[in-house]
Formats: sequence, C-alpha cells, structure tokens
Amino acid sequence: MNTIVIYKSKYGSTKAYGEWIAEELSCDAVDVKSVKVEDLLAYDTIIYGGGLYAENIAGVTLITKNLDKLKGKKIIIYTTGITPLDCRDYYDKLVMEKNFKGKDVTNIRVYHFLGKMILSELSFPHRTAIKTLKKIMSEKENPTNMEQLLVELCDVDGDFTDKNAIFDLVEYAKGKSY
Ligand SMILES: Cc1cc2nc3c(=O)[nH]c(=O)nc-3n(C[C@H](O)[C@H](O)[C@H](O)COP(=O)(O)O)c2cc1C
Repeated sequence: MNTIVIYKSKYGSTKAYGEWIAEELSCDAVDVKSVKVEDLLAYDTIIYGGGLYAENIAGVTLITKNLDKLKGKKIIIYTTGITPLDCRDYYDKLVMEKNFKGKDVTNIRVYHFLGKMILSELSFPHRTAIKTLKKIMSEKENPTNMEQLLVELCDVDGDFTDKNAIFDLVEYAKGKSY
C-alpha cells in the first residue's frame, strides 16, 4: 500500500491527527505547503486533513479541484473542528455542500474529528472573527438551532483531540471498511 497523509493545520490539531494516522499506516504525513498535485500521482491512497473554518475544510481544494487527475485513487478526507460530532446536519449537509458541491464524491470517504480551540492562542483576525460572529448571531430575534449552536461554539475553549478517533479511518485506509 502506497499511502500519504497531507494536512493543513494552523493550531496543530489537524497536524496531530495526521501524524497519528501516518504512524498507524507507516507512511509520511506532510504539510500541504510542500505538496503539489503532481506529487500525489505516485500514491494509491491519499489522506487529506484540514481544520474547519466557517465550514470550509482548510486547503481541501488541492483535492477537490484535481479530482480528474486523482481518478482511480483511494481518497480519504478528514476534518477537525469544534462542532459536536452528533450534529449530523452540520457535517453531512453544510460541510459537504460547502466543500464538495457539484463534485463526484462517490469514491471519497470523509471523517470528522474533534479539534481544539484555545481562545488565548487564536490569532488576532481569528479572535475578532469569533467575537463578531457571536455578536451577529446573538442579536438574531428568532435564531435557528444552528445559529444558537454557533453562539455556544464561540465560547468553546479547549483541546478535544483524541487519538482513538482515528480507528475507523485507519482501518478503511488499510482496506478493511467499517
Ligand atoms: C475563525 C474560526 C472559524 C472556525 N470555524 C469552525 C467551523 O466552521 N466549524 C467547526 O467545527 N470549527 C470551527 N473552528 C474551530 C477549528 O476548526 C478548530 O479549532 C480546528 O481544530 C482547528 O484546526 P487546526 O488546529 O489544525 O488549525 C473555527 C475556528 C476559528 C478560529
């Protein structure tokens, strides 16, 4: 099996998962900065991880814009975020539509893991974005469940990364589907 893990990670959670996965699969985990699509052609299995930022999977266009070039390969995508994993509408609808709309995803498996958000570590633009989002959402007169959830998520402050969460992805990458 010829596998590579690529990640884009600002605060380290996506990188941590990438390194755990690579360790289990005895392959390399590399930062997306040093990868071009041509480099991926040598691999049978491509695992891409990106943190969620306003529902966008950071850097995932490396994969989604090149699906024709990557045809026939096993493509696995993982995200890290702070939205609880049981919010299926968020992950299965919003995240999927925002990142894969109009794309043929039949051969792509997507996994979601909890990441981290430590408010004191956030960059100034990110802290400002979170504060602004919270203000806008809190001022809604009849907020939807999703909008209410967003307000609560703006106060999340912690590290929820969990090495055990990679099990299904690793088994699927090895060829054993769950
Ligand atoms: C500005 C901003 C926007 C975010 N948007 C989302 C989001 O839409 N959904 C989510 O689940 N988490 C969101 N998060 C949380 C990050 O996805 C989470 O911290 C992730 O683990 C970061 O990955 P990284 O540590 O690899 O950079 C956001 C965080 C910031 C700072």
